[in-house]
Formats: sequence, C-alpha cells, structure tokens
Amino acid sequence: MGLSDSIPASIAAKQPTPVVRRGQYVYPPGLRLNLPFYRFHGFFDPQNPVLLFEHLRRYGRAAHYRILRNDVVLLNDPSDIGEVLIDKAASFGKDRTQKRMKILLGEGLITSDGEAHKRGRRVAAPAFHRRRIEGYGGQIVDLAAAMRDQWRPDVEFDISGEMMRLALQVVARTLFDMEVTPEIHDINDQVNVIMDLYHFLITLPRAELLLNWPLPKMRRFRAAKKRLDQVVDGMIKSRRAEVDATAGVSAHQDRGDLLSMLVAARDDEAGGDHRRLTSEELRDQVLTLFLAGFETVSNALSWTWLLLGQNPEAEARLHNEIDGVIGDRLPTLDDMPKLEYTNMVLSESMRLYPPAWAMGREVLEDVSIGPYRLRKGTMVFFSQYIVQRDPRWFPNPERFMPERFTPAAKAGRPRFAYFPFGGGGRQCIGESFAWMEATLALATLAQRWRVELVQGQKIEMQPKITLRPKNGIRVRMMRRQG
Ligand code: HEM
Repeated sequence: MGLSDSIPASIAAKQPTPVVRRGQYVYPPGLRLNLPFYRFHGFFDPQNPVLLFEHLRRYGRAAHYRILRNDVVLLNDPSDIGEVLIDKAASFGKDRTQKRMKILLGEGLITSDGEAHKRGRRVAAPAFHRRRIEGYGGQIVDLAAAMRDQWRPDVEFDISGEMMRLALQVVARTLFDMEVTPEIHDINDQVNVIMDLYHFLITLPRAELLLNWPLPKMRRFRAAKKRLDQVVDGMIKSRRAEVDATAGVSAHQDRGDLLSMLVAARDDEAGGDHRRLTSEELRDQVLTLFLAGFETVSNALSWTWLLLGQNPEAEARLHNEIDGVIGDRLPTLDDMPKLEYTNMVLSESMRLYPPAWAMGREVLEDVSIGPYRLRKGTMVFFSQYIVQRDPRWFPNPERFMPERFTPAAKAGRPRFAYFPFGGGGRQCIGESFAWMEATLALATLAQRWRVELVQGQKIEMQPKITLRPKNGIRVRMMRRQG
C-alpha cells in the first residue's frame, strides 16, 4: 500500500492538530505502550525502521512514542522540520544514536557538536569550495568512462555493486589521490565489519561500555577499528611528511586531494598549536568523509538505474538530453547546467529513495516546535523517505515523475518538503560534490548504455544509516551507440 492511501482525512480537511498535554509540556499523540512492547506487531521491525515511521505517519503532523525512558517525536511537517533545523537549531544537538557513531567516527563532522563541530566545518570548508571540487569533475568522468568500456551487452550483473565500485574509486582518487589499492579495500572491509556490529551495538543501552568486553563480537569490532585507524593513520602520516617537506616552498602545497587539503589546513580562529588539526582530528574527519561520501552517492546512482529501468520513457528523454547536450564527446563540468532533465531525474530518484533516509536531533533545552512543547532530552526524528512521499506536496507520491523538479514546481513547495541533504548549519558539506559526481557519472554511463531490469527479482530496501537496495538490483545493459 502506498502512503497516499494512508494520509488521515484530518490533514486534508485542515482540522486542528490533536495534542496530548503532560503538565507544562505538549506532545503529539502516538503509541500508548513503550516501543519494545510492539516487537511482534508488523510495524516494528528493528531491521526495517521505515515501517515504524510509515505507521506513525498515520497520526498526522507528528507522532510520539517512548523507548524505555526516552521520549521520541517523529515530525512530518516541513514547517516543524524547518524550525528544528534552522529557526531553533541552537536548542538541538545531534541525537544519541548519531553520537554513538563516535565509537567509529570519533569527533568528525557528523558526530561532533558545538565548538568542535564549528572548528571542523571551518577547516573543511575550503576543501569543499566549489572551485576546488570542480577539479575532480574530469577524474569522475574518466573513471565512469573506464567502467562503461568494461561493460558487455546483455550480461546480467548487480548494478548496485557496480555503483559501489565506482563510488569507491571516486573516493579513493578525490579523498586520497590513490587508485583503489588493497588499503582502500581494507578500509571498506573494516568499515563493513564495524557497520554490521554497529547496528547491533546501537540497539543496546550503554553500548560504549560493552566494547571492552571479551565477547567474540566485540573482539572483532575492536580489531576492525584498530586496523582501520592504522590504515588511515598511515596515509595521514605519509601525506603530512609530503606537505611538511614542501612547506618551505609553498605554505599550502598539496596534491589536490581532500586529505592533503586537510593536512595543510589551518584554523585561523584557533591559537598556537591548535591551528593545525591533530592526527586524531584528521583521522576522524577523513573517516567521516569516507563514510559520508561514498555509500550515499553509490545508493543514489543505484536507485536511479532501477527507476530508469522501470520508466523507459523517462530514460529515453534522458538519452535525448545527453545526446543533444554532449553528443559523442565525454561530458565536462560546463555541461552540467545544461543537463536539466538529468538533474530532475536524480532529484526525483532522491525523493523516492533518499540515500540519507532519516535524521535525528536531541532537545538540549525545553523548546516549542509548532503546536508542541518538548521537554529537554526528547529525541526528535524526521524522515526524508516519509516527508518526500507526502501527497500534499507530491501527488501520486509513488510515481516516478522527474517533472516535479521543474523550477516552477519546486517554487510551489515549502523548503522542507524535500531535503535529501538536510538543512541549516549542518547541511551536507558534500552536496555540490555529490551532485557533480552523480550527474557526471550518470551522463557518462547513460551516453552509451540503456538499462534493462532482470525480470522476477524482488527489490527490497535496507534502511540502515543509508538506504541501500537489500539484495542488489540485477540488470542487463544494452549498448546504445559507439
Ligand atoms: C547523494 C549523496 C549525499 C546525500 C544524500 C547526503 C546527505 C546528507 C545529509 C542529509 C546530511 C545531514 C545530516 C544531519 O544533519 O543530521 C549530511 C551531512 C554530511 N555529509 Fe552528506 N550526503 C551526500 C554526500 C556527501 C558527500 C559526497 C560528502 C563528502 C565527500 C558528504 C559529507 C557529509 C558530511 C561531512 C556531513 C556532516 C556535516 C555537518 O554536520 O556539518 N556527504 N549529508
């Protein structure tokens, strides 16, 4: 069943929002029992939290539930989400589950708050400057062109595995200025080991304490994290030596990759020794960029192939645009503004399958959001997957319709009806990078190939930190020309 069938009539009729008063606090209605009691109800499956959010969507503007002693509120209304991310951002911090990621990412951009976050953002900003990342465009096209030359017509394969491979190559080049060496595979393998266990860990209270227990699972986690730190530290050390060796020649000499940029970076607002990032800070930031920048783009591209396979007319229009704008040569950055339909296809794909499918914050001081008054400590979630399928802003929400992203259509929607990259002071720092990578990779691959989905496969979502296709997406590629 689609969400379009499940929006309560009260929303359409604009009836007053129902609220539950608890002393000085005002919460939305929601689940009566503590969440774990619903373990055997269809909507609560820890492996698939989207089901819970879809269920809670039926309460309308927002819904409340409790996990043990924690209050949790799911916000579904763009104006309330805007209040959290922008107008009242100072009253919110990263939620506890994201903080738990510190086990893996230390004090990187995603997990830090307050001064540490500000410093991280200041130092990383130049590395993500538009002019700077534009330098990576040619490398992305080269990698995608090499991949398309390896494809063979009519051979069945998993396109999501292939998009992972491409995104890993892009990250290796742009973050580390390396090919996908055994070291990069090592990083990826250790991250996967950690991620599997991480999901087990974040379901447990005080997971940090468990880490030191002599359990086999924990031992594996510790070994993977140690190996990961060793590999990244090794890369940082050698890059630091290079940057220091050239420092006399030019203060900000770097190889053009994000790592050397961060190694050479100075925080001008900090004094003395604190101007340079410490090795730990560097490692945390680098691991964060690796994780944040790789799976998200790979998922966006994978879901796009699925949607193109299901919508041949849209695919034909995409091909027309690519042929008209680019012809037979390879795409370049200058083509990007002209690839309007390509951009609309990717936007619509990230509407239906947002790679970051939900976000969370924790209330740091009692705060009012819309008609609600929330107590300090409440966790607040909002889900791109849910909000971006709201029929008020996206009629026939289940349908793939890139036309929803013409400038006029976009202007008719509230800001937070669509927010694949979040918003406010913590908006994705890699957004321009991601658009560039996805657009140039898609244009390069689709210039030569048309996708056919293998019939009879069951496509399922796996909503972990990112929204992955659970069993991959099996396709055959058909040659277009050349
Ligand atoms: C389609 C691709 C991508 C999507 C959908 C995406 C989505 C997001 C979202 C929703 C957030 C905000 C999270 C929050 O506020 O809780 C975020 C933050 C972040 N993203 Fe991305 N991202 C993508 C690609 C990238 C890339 C390519 C990089 C880096 C190379 C990157 C690095 C980051 C970092 C470092 C943050 C934390 C920013 C902060 O808190 O200051 N992302 N991303």
